[in-house]
Order: sequence, then structure tokens, then C-alpha cells
Amino acid sequence: MSSPIVVKGMTKRFGDIVAVNDVDLEVHRGEVFGFLGPNAAGKSTTVKVASTLLTPSSGTVVIDGYDVLEEPEEIRAVIGLLPEDGADTHYDRLTAAENLEYFGLLYDVPKEKLQNRIDELLEFLELSDRRDSSPGTFSTGLKQKLSLARALIHDPPIVFLDEPTSNLDPIMSRKVREFIQKMAGSSNKTFFMCTHLLSEAEDLCDRVGFISHGRLVEVGRPADLRRKFWTKRTFELQLATGDLTKAQSIIQSTGLVTSIQVENKRVVYVVEKAERKNPKIVQALVEAKFAIVELRERIPRLEDVYLKVIGGDN
Ligand SMILES: Nc1ncnc2c1ncn2[C@@H]1O[C@H](COP(=O)(O)OP(=O)(O)OP(=O)(O)O)[C@@H](O)[C@H]1O
Ligand SMILES: [Mg+2]
Repeated sequence: MSSPIVVKGMTKRFGDIVAVNDVDLEVHRGEVFGFLGPNAAGKSTTVKVASTLLTPSSGTVVIDGYDVLEEPEEIRAVIGLLPEDGADTHYDRLTAAENLEYFGLLYDVPKEKLQNRIDELLEFLELSDRRDSSPGTFSTGLKQKLSLARALIHDPPIVFLDEPTSNLDPIMSRKVREFIQKMAGSSNKTFFMCTHLLSEAEDLCDRVGFISHGRLVEVGRPADLRRKFWTKRTFELQLATGDLTKAQSIIQSTGLVTSIQVENKRVVYVVEKAERKNPKIVQALVEAKFAIVELRERIPRLEDVYLKVIGGDN
């Protein structure tokens, strides 16, 4: 079976603006893919093309085996979409539950299944007590939750989420993240989500892509990207007792570290090829009768990767 999302050489222009520039990207089944990048980078435009709201200027986008230009109807049946302006796309003359019912019927969800699905989603998103109210009376976060329910009403195998937690409180954001992770794992759904929340991408996404000025500049697993950008690794060493300055000079004299200092009662050193050198550093300390309590790596966060890839230059 082909990958659920396959983008090849896709460009989208708006007049003189090249919003998406020759992007190649493949997202695998069951994967949660995070799309990261500055404002106006081309994230939402990519989602709109992939979800058939816009047509590409050139290149191809194939969703679940269907081409966006040739088979948009087929694509709409297999995708869920939480658009960027999702909070403002409900019918205010209908109640929350009726909004979901309307979309469920559009997607041909059988009636008996639909009621269960509506109940489940409203319950999960803590909207049950508002089911008979108009979304016009909702706060932004409540509207966004209803949009999320709508995106999932027909249980689609592929889901596009454009900043799904941007209006949600921290507890609901976490709940939604856990829900996404669970659905990706147990139902093998594929998620493509844009987010500015790097910690969210780090927690949730199997892989991330960085887009800048319409160009996809990096794709990879968060851990692999960290490794790619940090060949030198930083370690913190905590000793049970003893003279930190002496420990520092012992480590220094091994000639294995690129830099070393004492910070907050810990020896902090930077090393390349840590797998080979750390055992030797530890051995030198043990031979000098130092007892090691903890040797911990200072792991760079995805935010650090973002700053390196995107920089301040956007
Ligand atoms: N309908 C449109 N007409 C003209 N230009 C557009 C249109 N939609 C998007 N653009 C432009 O395309 C570029 C990419 O916009 P896009 O919405 O994809 O960015 P984004 O990465 O989602 O940004 P944000 O993080 O702010 O949501 C921007 O320069 C934007 O102004
Ligand atoms: Mg956007």
C-alpha cells in the first residue's frame, strides 16, 4: 500500500508569492508528522493543497493513492481537516451536536453509528453539556474543540490538523495530544499537523519537517535531528564527594574533551564521539577514587534545532 501522503515537487504560487516551493515529502501510515516553520512559511498552504481546498501550481500531491487534481472527491472522503481558521467555521443556527450530525451525514456516516460517534467525541472533548447550544455562543477554545470533533466525525484514516491546540488550555491540549497519539497507534491513523509549539511536536510527532520561505529545509525524527546538529555533546557529572577542581583537571588531562567547566557543583564538559570517550573519562575518575553519582547528558530541545535550522533569519 502506498504512503498516505505523497508530495512531489509541489509548488503553490499566489501571484508573485511562492507560498510553497518545490516540496517533496512522504508521510507514512500511522505516523504523526509535525510541520514546523515561521509565520508565512507555507504550512497552511501545504495543508490546503493536500486537503483539496487549493490546487497546486505544479507538482503532484497524492493522498491515500488519489491525486488531488484528478480525484478530490475521493480524497475528501478519507481525510479529516481541522483548518487554521477552524474556530470560525460552524453553522451558528445549528446546535453543536447538529453541526456534527450535518457533517457526519455529508460523509455518509450511518445514522446509528453517527449518534454514538457524536456522543463519544463530545464526551471526550468535554463538550457534552454544550451539545444543544449554538457554536455562536462558544468561546474560541470551545469552537476549536468542536472543529476537532468535526474533523474526526467520519473516523477518517488521514487527518490534517492546522494548529490543533492553539486555542486550548494546557490540560485540554495534553488530552488532545494523547488522543492523537492513541489514534495514531491503535487505529493506525495518519496525522499531519502544523504547530508552533515545539514541545508539542517533540512530545507527539514521530517525524517533523521544517519549512521556511516555502522550502522544506529539514525532515527527520526529533532525536535524529538533534544528533545531526549536535555532533558535540554536553555532559554533566555529579560526584559524591571530593574536589571538583581536581576532577576537572583529571578530565582535562585525558585530552578527550573539547571544553570543561564547573557549574552548580557539577563538572560540565563537551565531548565529540561520546560513546568512545565517556567510558575513558569515567575510568580516569574512578582510578582517582572519585565516586560518581550521576552522569547526565544535556539534551538539546527541538526548539534548539528549530533555532539552528530556521535561525533568526526569516
Ligand atoms: N489566498 C492567498 N492569497 C495570497 N497569498 C496567500 C494566500 N494564502 C497564503 N498566502 C501567502 O502565502 C504565504 C504562506 O502562507 P501560509 O498561510 O501557508 O503560511 P503558514 O506557514 O501557515 O503561516 P502561519 O504560521 O502564520 O500560519 C504567505 O506569504 C501568505 O501571505
Ligand atoms: Mg498557517
